Amino acid sequence: MILKIVDIKHPALRKKSKEVVKIDKKIKSLVSDMKETLLSQKDPEGVGLAAPQVGKNLKIFIMHYPEAGIITKEVINPKVISISKKKIKPKNKRNENILEGCLSIPHFYGPIKRASKITIEYQNIEGEKIKEQFSGFPAQIVQHEMDHLIGVIFVDHILKNKSPLYHIKGNEWEEVELT
Ligand code: CO
Repeated sequence: MILKIVDIKHPALRKKSKEVVKIDKKIKSLVSDMKETLLSQKDPEGVGLAAPQVGKNLKIFIMHYPEAGIITKEVINPKVISISKKKIKPKNKRNENILEGCLSIPHFYGPIKRASKITIEYQNIEGEKIKEQFSGFPAQIVQHEMDHLIGVIFVDHILKNKSPLYHIKGNEWEEVELT
């Protein structure tokens, strides 16, 4: 089932999410719905979706970035094991900076420097504990989604760092003021 993605004003996006205590039928169905919801996004497409974005304050997110071999990976109860001091501005294959965006604020993008590497420990849908290191753009996705689980939205970083924010739709873009 495709779920409704809440927008930036929804209170769930500002709450701290809770641990998933048991990966039961309800959680499995939520994870499956979140995967379907993420894959259904076309304008814009998404690379990640956190449970608060569908109104559930649970420590769950989905990543989808086939270019790096990440296909609808579910991440449950993630904890940061280590994070690099080195920051990056991720680039795409054409060597352009990848701007960060969010399905809860569609069509707005801005540059954010994230740690270039992050190692997390999490559970998969079977409840198995997995330790995994991500680098480059996948590391950025992980950091963006982990932020959602503590009530942080990417525009908070834009505001704090006084970085520009752009509204991009089709081929048209303009710089906008954050208010
Ligand atoms: Co987001």
